[in-house]
Amino acid sequence: MSFTVAIDGPAAAGKGTIARAVAARFGFAHLDTGLLYRAVGARMLEGADPVAAARGLAPADLARSDLRAADVARAASEVAAIPEVRAALVAFQRGFARQAGGAVLDGRDIGTVICPEAEVKLYVTASPEVRAHRRWLEEGGDAAQVLADVHARDARDTGREDAPLKAAGDAVLIDTTALDIDGAVAAACAHVAARL
Ligand code: C5P
Repeated sequence: MSFTVAIDGPAAAGKGTIARAVAARFGFAHLDTGLLYRAVGARMLEGADPVAAARGLAPADLARSDLRAADVARAASEVAAIPEVRAALVAFQRGFARQAGGAVLDGRDIGTVICPEAEVKLYVTASPEVRAHRRWLEEGGDAAQVLADVHARDARDTGREDAPLKAAGDAVLIDTTALDIDGAVAAACAHVAARL
């Protein structure tokens, strides 16, 4: 029997950390769907056509070590606005969600588009300033630039026509602005446990 946990939210809100912790706690598989768009973005930076790259995405593309780079993140949010790129990635994500033993998927459109029937939907957010500060603690760089990048990515992710970032009507909101990791993970696990 499949059991899907959909976790959406903006960059650096803590959804990846929460998704990994929920998966570990309940023994579910985990897919960071941002990696799919990052892998396509990385291929575009190398000159590939993004739609062809999305259609031909292979496991090795997801294992690249450069997918966390800032230029790849920017390219990811650009290719994520192309409907044919998104369409090419749907079947893989839905297949992953339905696997036996349970699955956690985190991204921007999991509860709204990919898995609208998910048993648990969480929308994890935090203020742009707190998210930029967390990103800066992890990656360093110019703090003002990191905040500008967060705002730019939010604008692209919420403003695109196809599958924009937004909370599903039936998603549970977890605001991590004033929550530490343990608090956020505990809140998420409690929601999952209540549905199992
Ligand atoms: O979450 P992450 O920062 O790795 O995502 C990179 C980019 O991929 C996001 O800015 C977003 O534009 C895109 N994305 C998406 N839909 C998803 C996951 C990521 O559009 N489900």
